[in-house]
Amino acid sequence: MKIRVFPTAELATVYVAALVESLITREPHPVLGLATGATPVLLYRQLVAFHRQGLSFAHVTTINLDEYVGLAPDHPQSYRRFMEEHLFRHVDIPPTQTHVPNGMAADLAAECARYDALLAAHPIDLQILGIGHNGHIGFNEPEGALKTRTHVVTLTAETLRANARYFPDPGAMPRQAITMGLESILQAKAIILMAFGADKAQIVQAALSGEVSTAVPASFLQMHPNVTFVLDAGACQLLTPPEHWGVSFPLLEQGQFT
Ligand code: GLP
Repeated sequence: MKIRVFPTAELATVYVAALVESLITREPHPVLGLATGATPVLLYRQLVAFHRQGLSFAHVTTINLDEYVGLAPDHPQSYRRFMEEHLFRHVDIPPTQTHVPNGMAADLAAECARYDALLAAHPIDLQILGIGHNGHIGFNEPEGALKTRTHVVTLTAETLRANARYFPDPGAMPRQAITMGLESILQAKAIILMAFGADKAQIVQAALSGEVSTAVPASFLQMHPNVTFVLDAGACQLLTPPEHWGVSFPLLEQGQFT
């Protein structure tokens, strides 16, 4: 487990964007696992900027973590629409190579099975994650038991509250979502979890506590052989940094990414 701390979310994001760029440049058929939410917005902006400077996404496949049940792809609050607006429509990725669960599927169990088959056919090289205030990753909510594969989840009151800000009518917010499961997330070859802001400090501390618990789904990431937590000053403020965390601010000094 690596932890990288930067003074600001902007600098942290440039670090992650550089890692994504290097993967895209290096691999003939890279598969990116992508997340939604406020946290990766800056990352997608930076990747779009790299594209404008010549980085091609033509050979990239993307697989998103989750989608609301009952929202059409073009619904303003759907995660498919989010990805189109923040990344897909601004780069040269063929639409057939972008994957988001279909929240409108008539048979949700069949849709989950289809997504698992997709994941089996396209092992994820790099999974990008945010973290919910309750420790969820994707939409894997804290529960007595966590599901391994793609499944339909009933959103917790806390998640409904946290995400209500995106819905003009919070009452119309879906109560369910389709999400990749914990095992599918942990099967990615590399994982980067980004957390920014002091409001994430407590859950970041819980996720990195050295204990693994279904009460904090992100804590399972500690068991992954290649996971990096990328934090800003706010999100890391409850951590006591031991030597081996490699806490660093390299980009601030180098300055070449500004
Ligand atoms: C959402 C998404 C997660 C995301 C998390 C945090 O509900 N399903 O993938 O990581 O909540 O969102 P934010 O980055 O807006 O804090």
